[in-house]
Amino acid sequence: MKNDFIKIKPPLWILLELTHKCPLECNYCYNQLDFALTKDVMKKEDWFRVMEEAREMGAVQLGISGGEPLLNKDIVQIIKKANDLKFYTNLITSGVGGEKGIIKKLKNAGLKTVQLGIQSHDKETMTLITNNKSAYDKKLEIAKEIKDEGLQLIINTCITRENIHQIADIIDFAEELGANYLEIANIQYYGWALKNVDSLLPTKEQILQAKKTCDYYREKKTNMKVFFVVPDYFEERPKPCMNGWGTTFLTINPDGNALPCNTANTLPLHFPNVKDFSIKEIWNDSEAFNFFRGDAWMPDPCRTCPEKEKDFGGCRCQAYALTKNMKATDPVCSKSPDHDNLQKLVKDSLKDMNKKPLYRNRKNSLIFINKE
Ligand code: FES
Repeated sequence: MKNDFIKIKPPLWILLELTHKCPLECNYCYNQLDFALTKDVMKKEDWFRVMEEAREMGAVQLGISGGEPLLNKDIVQIIKKANDLKFYTNLITSGVGGEKGIIKKLKNAGLKTVQLGIQSHDKETMTLITNNKSAYDKKLEIAKEIKDEGLQLIINTCITRENIHQIADIIDFAEELGANYLEIANIQYYGWALKNVDSLLPTKEQILQAKKTCDYYREKKTNMKVFFVVPDYFEERPKPCMNGWGTTFLTINPDGNALPCNTANTLPLHFPNVKDFSIKEIWNDSEAFNFFRGDAWMPDPCRTCPEKEKDFGGCRCQAYALTKNMKATDPVCSKSPDHDNLQKLVKDSLKDMNKKPLYRNRKNSLIFINKE
């Protein structure tokens, strides 16, 4: 389905998800619940071709993630190829699972930035969230390697009710590790996080307090850049997800499917595979990438809303996850007919603040698949 009325701009950001395997079992992971069904079918040559084609179209930023991308044995060559093509490369990693000295090799291959996930300043909380006893020590080791190699270190801390009380300590810790930026990301509820929403969602008061702490640090205590991402569920207007569907971002997952965002394969759309089509065909002509371009697909209230140019009707994955209608207005929006249901979900999710989340692992993924 080609939409002849819309000017299609080339993708700028490409994200390669090198594998869905991960040594950690974070209970907020955005990966699909049925990830145990996916296979790592992409060979190094396939990744090379994808990068060449995307670069030819004008893409400039390249993220490498997963699962845990360090588990892919070809990662050094993939980064080298990206660097040869003059991509700006960013590794998004848990810091666990790579061979010793991997950061030096990646730096020599041309890697520019590492985004390292740090869940807490204390070992006990990190073990609780990741279900991996060696995660803490390994992350500290790799943070040191990243700094020793002179790479830019971005620390990303996903916030849930399990660590929201630790914001001040986490900021101090990130500074000690030498982070250039700290992103305090209240998680958004997709994949495993949505499954666990009633054990992870903090209260609004906790979020306001966390934001206050961040503001205080920014104003008085730190020169490090600290970003604070507010969770959608407490907002009145939706986020302009992915800067609009099929406008900027392109993700390739481990089985070669091309997606307009990391979680798009939860939608009832058929996503093209890079083994069957070129990136140009996928981006310009595929039905899936054209489905939500422009505003012709929008129902009311989005269709007549003056803010539609700003938020594009919100997030398609969130709309589908919460309403089972992928064209619905994002329920985060107070104008959405489903907004009350979202508020009820928030209220219900806060009923038992001691509820334990499920870990993201193969066993739980298979249980989910067999129940479907
Ligand atoms: Fe898929 Fe928002 S995460 S459109």
